[in-house]
Amino acid sequence: MKDHFNKKAETWDEGAMRVNGAAKIAEAINRRIPLNKEMEIMDFGTGTGLLGFEIAKATKKVYGVDTSPSMLEKLHEKNTPEMTIETYCQDIIKDPIDKVFHGMVSSMTLHHVEELELFFKTLHQNIAEGGFIAIADLESEDGTFHSDNTGVFHFGFEEKKLCEIVENAGFKDVKFENIDTINKPNRDFGVFLLTAKK
Ligand SMILES: C[S@@+](CC[C@H](N)C(=O)[O-])C[C@H]1O[C@@H](n2cnc3c(N)ncnc32)[C@H](O)[C@@H]1O
Repeated sequence: MKDHFNKKAETWDEGAMRVNGAAKIAEAINRRIPLNKEMEIMDFGTGTGLLGFEIAKATKKVYGVDTSPSMLEKLHEKNTPEMTIETYCQDIIKDPIDKVFHGMVSSMTLHHVEELELFFKTLHQNIAEGGFIAIADLESEDGTFHSDNTGVFHFGFEEKKLCEIVENAGFKDVKFENIDTINKPNRDFGVFLLTAKK
């Protein structure tokens, strides 16, 4: 698989918009989901771990999944003996992970997943009974969020359509709420948090 984040990895954490955005997503997840120190969590599309390290503070362990070796290399540099994210560098649809998690979090990655139905069905098998998913991404946009749309399969998401896909994959209590707005010179972009239970 091509590493579209190869050039971005080196400076990813220098983007204040990204760092602050991930912190806001972590806050919103903390408000919605009672995290605890028994939980093992998957961070899907973990990148350099901006969301994962925040979630790791309140849980037992975070496992980061990503298809970009260069983003994971930056994450590994941030691991410490006190806080380590263990990583899987693979496409979990083609090459599923044989592990069940108490929950899954994800920030700004779903728009890179082409086959959503297949993705949520795969994910369902990785979540324990009673577990949760908490996914943040862009609300529907006009394709101007990214300066280059290579590897972008969805220009944000429409609430009704996405909730239906998640429900059809077997999740329940599906909720979708606006949690942030990203201001860019051309326009503002809404960020949602979708949560659901298995
Ligand atoms: C926009 S970045 C977000 C990174 C991180 N979650 C953050 O908020 O800073 C998207 C990440 O998803 C990863 N990604 C894209 N497609 C993926 C896939 N199918 N499976 C796992 N990771 C994927 C990319 O390599 C990249 O690291």
